[in-house]
Amino acid sequence: MRRHCYPQRVIVNAIVPVAGFGTRLLPATKSQPKEMLPVARKPIVQYVSEELVNNGLKQILFVTGRGKTSIENHFDHDPELSRLLEKTNKHELLEALNFSEMDVKYFYTRQPVQRGLGDAILCGESFAGQNPFVVALGDSIIGLNGKSSTVARMVHLFQTHHAAAIVAVEEVPREEVRHYGIVDPASMDGDVIRVANLIEKPAVDAAPSNLAIAARYVFSPLIFDLIKQVEPDHRGEVQLTNAIQRMCEEGRRVLAVKLPATERRFDIGNFPSYYESFVEFALADPEHGPALRERLKQLLAD
Ligand code: UTP
Repeated sequence: MRRHCYPQRVIVNAIVPVAGFGTRLLPATKSQPKEMLPVARKPIVQYVSEELVNNGLKQILFVTGRGKTSIENHFDHDPELSRLLEKTNKHELLEALNFSEMDVKYFYTRQPVQRGLGDAILCGESFAGQNPFVVALGDSIIGLNGKSSTVARMVHLFQTHHAAAIVAVEEVPREEVRHYGIVDPASMDGDVIRVANLIEKPAVDAAPSNLAIAARYVFSPLIFDLIKQVEPDHRGEVQLTNAIQRMCEEGRRVLAVKLPATERRFDIGNFPSYYESFVEFALADPEHGPALRERLKQLLAD
């Protein structure tokens, strides 16, 4: 068996929470995970795992729940299907399936009760051990077709700035801040921001900025103890934001990195943004995009 031996400071582990109910996308998500919904050719979670691998991560833990086994099946080899495609000379399709051979090891654990994002991350405590790790939300793609180098940049900053946490952020329209966790910036150095605190879903007038947390994080394992101290909210959910707030209050170094303009966040948690993401990715499809563009023009002209 090939054993990997990584220098201690290299971050190789990522936790991808995919256990949520996806209620905002019902009925589409009644019996299939929202993270498996296709955006053009691939399910969301495939873009996420390819992004992580391209950013140097070597081990991915999916925090799953009931009804999520199709995620495990998707990343597994399917020798029967491969044999059939080979026999029928469908080499392009075979190539489209070779993501299951990426240089990464997948792990799976279950969140027994959907008690919020903080609780889902806590399910990865033994996986992470004493090492820092990346968190990537399984329902958000960063950059068109998942082409993003932000996680690698965050990992680098985490190491060079001796941070306790790094969060990716994106500027959102001021009137939309109430939908997001918003950063209260203490200071800014280019696109790197020292975070004084985070405010969960503030009113427009109370928002300290329009920088919204954008689905990617790097954490020191310290975060686990802080999550354990968070009281569940009125819906019984343990919020990850509360644990990061505690980090800030303890005076630890929490930084935010702005996503570059070329790497927007595609949040697939609600229908308007799912529709927009699908159309944008489909338009970028080299084979079918141009015809779709023409068809959309006709539809919009009617
Ligand atoms: P969301 O809060 O957007 O997901 O979490 P949700 O709970 O499925 O959404 P709605 O409100 O019911 O529509 C962001 C990510 O965290 C995961 C989700 O699967 C999603 O990928 N998550 C959320 C968990 O793994 N466990 C939880 O308890 C909550």
